[in-house]
Order: sequence, then structure tokens, then C-alpha cells
Amino acid sequence: MAVEDKIKELMSKREQARLGGGEKRIDAQHKKGKYTARERIELLLDDGSFEEFDMFVSHRTVDFGLDKQTYLSDGVVTGYGTIDGRLVYVFSQDFTVFGGSLSEMYAQKIVKVMDKAMKIGAPIIGINDSGGARIQEGVKSLGGYADIFQKNILASGVIPQISAVFGPCAGGAVYSPALTDFTLMTKGTSYMFVTGPKVVKTVTGEEVTTEELGGAQVHATKSGITHFVTEDEDEGLMLIRKLISYLPQNNMEDPPQKICSDPIDRLDDELNYIIPDNPNKPYDVKDIIASVVDNGEFLEVQRQFAPNIVIGFTTFNGNSVGIVANQPNYLAGVLDINASRKAARFVRFCDAFNIPIVTLVDVPGFLPGTTQEYGGIIIHGAKLLFAYGEATVPKITIILRKAYGGAYDVMSSKHLRGDINYAWPGSEIAVMGPKGAIEVLYAHELKSFSDEEEKAKFISEKEEEYKAKFANPYVAAKYGYIDDVIEPRNTRFRIIRALQMLATKKDVNPPKKHSNLPL
Ligand code: HXC
Repeated sequence: MAVEDKIKELMSKREQARLGGGEKRIDAQHKKGKYTARERIELLLDDGSFEEFDMFVSHRTVDFGLDKQTYLSDGVVTGYGTIDGRLVYVFSQDFTVFGGSLSEMYAQKIVKVMDKAMKIGAPIIGINDSGGARIQEGVKSLGGYADIFQKNILASGVIPQISAVFGPCAGGAVYSPALTDFTLMTKGTSYMFVTGPKVVKTVTGEEVTTEELGGAQVHATKSGITHFVTEDEDEGLMLIRKLISYLPQNNMEDPPQKICSDPIDRLDDELNYIIPDNPNKPYDVKDIIASVVDNGEFLEVQRQFAPNIVIGFTTFNGNSVGIVANQPNYLAGVLDINASRKAARFVRFCDAFNIPIVTLVDVPGFLPGTTQEYGGIIIHGAKLLFAYGEATVPKITIILRKAYGGAYDVMSSKHLRGDINYAWPGSEIAVMGPKGAIEVLYAHELKSFSDEEEKAKFISEKEEEYKAKFANPYVAAKYGYIDDVIEPRNTRFRIIRALQMLATKKDVNPPKKHSNLPL
């Protein structure tokens, strides 16, 4: 064969591979409002940066007539490219080939690209759109899934792992996204569940739609499985690029430094008045975040899940930081099971990837009640405590208003190796709020009152006494638990100075195989 013909053959094979399951199935994919596997990669990566692996792989199954149905690439597109010039590895499941279902060879392709990502030290991004295990391949497909899970586990804490779910993700297939650091879903077209609506109906009798069982909204609000929900795939792919911009390539590197156009000593006078006089009145902690970070830019994570705590990425003077903030606007910013789990995982991610943590505290305590106690608030609250106590990255804490009880300890207090702990002048650091404290401290006296007016006067006096004594930051500052009481309008500058000072921080935990996190 002449060289020209050999090259023609190569081009023709490439063309065939690029068509996946064929024009008809590509059209069907587009009609659903979905991109194909390759289109998604093109949109995700820098123009022209994609280099593909294993384009000519095909399955080796003969059962159920599969020997007559082979497709080059076998249903998944893998390779590497760049995002803003930084290397990333990708795999993108191709629904046009056997519904994106996973075969032995398909799994091997994913495993290969994950191995490369680990060896080179760059993030891996997986785009999921699949009917699950390829039924015709039986246990080989199940084995393939487990091989991927094992890689996900070994890669955890070594390279950032991001999963986009842009179609079906059902059965055991859900566990790869669950093992990764961040999951993203699109409204209307993606769903995740362990067992589908039909099985649910058979086993429990419950009638539920696909969307109700595992749509993006459900996982954003109820289960917390997805960290981001986007209107469509374009928005989702851009969001992944944004997320990557805050992350280091691997656990041995620091996050990338961005150019900062926002003056580091910018004062915001409004912050001095942002906290309402009435300690029970809510305000939006996101206004404070927007005021202190670079150009008000904040990438919120799990926005709709446990809104009583806010988490996300931002930069201070161009340096990536993870923010954890109690949200007084929702349930008074109380810590409950979901808020504790949400923040704990985020703190651990930041710690694993050398991202400093800034914690903004306004917390009335843990949520009381049987629902919380039976649900295990003790163990879930311990997760957050554990995560903060174990973290060795720079930790800066600002108490904005309330820091009561166990929640004071948990929220990156000095006692959990907080590096810099500041408080605003109006903050109250105490075992509990004045009302509850007076009821306990003066229980006997309160019983003896027959006149309600006199009782109310007594309570009011005692509350004032308590407030004067405990409801301020100076008692904690007296013991060195607070490094300084700062003027709110100067918060940005104080955080940046502290981050600069902590840039070379080294801290270690005792050697061990691994900790026994209260799961
Ligand atoms: C082989 C599959 C397939 C599968 C879909 N296809 N799923 N082929 N194995 N698992 C094929 C279809 O035959 C069809 O082929 C094409 O993909 C598109 O599928 P449609 O059904 O036409 O598409 P749609 O109507 O959009 O429905 C998508 C779907 C449905 C909801 C995903 O296909 C479906 O329910 N599939 C089966 C899902 C399933 O039960 N998977 C196993 C889960 S158990 P043609 O030739 O017509 O284009 C599991 C265990 C993993 O995954 C355990 C890991 C630990």
C-alpha cells in the first residue's frame, strides 16, 4: 500500500471513530439538548489543545451478536489538553455508542488516563453520560467499574477529581462521581440514582419520576450529592474551567496565583454597620464575603444544600482561599447535620490541596431536637470538628457576631490550631446566649417570683449583667483565644496580611496510617 493510501486509511479510521455511534444517534443526542462526547471536550478545553488516546480501541465481546457491532473508541473518549494553559486529563462518555454503557475495554481506557493523571500530577475531569454496565459484557463490565473506583480512591487527595453528569448515571456507576471531589449536574437532562423508578416501584411500591428520584434539583437540595447545578452543558463546562482556576495541579503544588486588580487595603465603611443591633436579626453573610474578597468574586459550592453554612472558593490578593461561613439568613446560621457534613468535606478538600481556609463565624450553636440527635448530630458535628483540627493549611477565623457553645470550638477556634483568630467588636463569645444562661443560672430565683413584672425586670437586669460580662470579645481576647479585635471595615486588609504572614506555614500531624474520621 502506498504511503498516501496508508494515510488515507488512517484518516478514514479517525473519521469513523469521530462519528461514534453514527449520525442518527448524534442527531438524537442533539435533539435531547445534549452535546456529543467530543463536542463537550472541545468546549471544555482550550482551543486545539486536545490530544486523544486510544481512538482505535474496540470491545472484544462476541456474545449477543456484539462481534458484528463494533465502534472505534468503544463509547468513551479519553486524552489530555489544557484549561487556561494548564494540563488536565479527561474522559467523556459517548452515549451514541451502546448508550455510553461501560465495557471492559472502555474501563481500561479510563483507568489508563487516570493513571497518567496521577503519574504526571494533573486534575482528571470525567464527563458522565451512560446507561451503566454494558449488559452484554456481564461481570467484565462490573470489574471495569471497580477498577475505576479503585483509581478514584487512590487519586483522592492527590489530584483534583471533577465529575460532570450530563445524562444518565445509574446503578453502581454513581459511585465514581461520589468518590470524586466535585460533581456537577445540568437541569432536566442529568440524573443519578442507585436504583431507578421501576425498581423502586417493584420493591417499595413508591411511584416516583426520574426527575423526582435523582434529578439535578434533588441532588442539589436534598441529598447534597451534586456541588453545582447549571442550566445547560455550556454553563456546566465553563463552570468546570472556573473551578479548576482555583485549584492546584496536585497535592504537592500550591494553587495558581491570579493577577489581583483590587487594592489589598481597600476599606469598606459599610461593614462597620452591617451587623444589625438586634442580635436575633438576620443578615446575609454573602454580603460580607463579597465585600472582603478580590473584586467580590466568589464561587459558591453546594449553594442550595444546607444554606445555613456557606462554602466556596475565592481569592485574596490573587491567592486561592476556601471560605466557610455561617449564614445568619437561614436558620440563624445554626450548625446541623447537613451543614456539618457539607463544611467538613470542604475543609478536608482545601487541606488536601494546600488551599488556606478563612472561616467567618456567626453561630448560635448546634440545632437542638430529636430529629438531629436521632440523625447523629454528635457524629456529624464531630466530622467538622475533626476536619478543622486535622487541617494544617493556614487557618484564619473572624468572629463576626455570635460564637456560642460547642460551635465556638468547632468553627476553627484557636484551640483547633487556628493560626489567626480575630473578632469584630460587637461579637459575643460565650457558653450560651444571655436568655438561656439566665434561665440556668437563676433557676431557683426565677421560681420564687409571683409577680410577672418583677420577674421580667429581674431577668432583664441579669441579662444585661451577663452581656456586660460575657457577650463581648474581650474575655476571649484576655486569654489569647482571640489575637485581636479588629475594625470590620478593615477586614480585607487584615485577612490578606495574615495570609501573607502564613504563606510559608508548616504544620504536621503525628505519623499514622490514616486517621479514623467519625464517618
Ligand atoms: C448495553 C445499552 C445499555 C446498557 C442503553 N443501551 N443502556 N446497551 N448496555 N446498559 C443501548 C440501547 O440498547 C440503545 O441502543 C442505546 O443504548 C440508547 O438507549 P435507549 O434506551 O434508546 O436510550 P434512552 O431512551 O435515552 O434511555 C437511556 C437509558 C436506558 C435510561 C439509560 O437505555 C436504560 O434504562 N438502559 C439500561 C440501564 C441499565 O439498567 N443499566 C445497567 C445498570 S446496572 P441502540 O442500538 O438502540 O442505539 C449497572 C451496574 C454497575 O450499571 C455496577 C457497578 C458497580
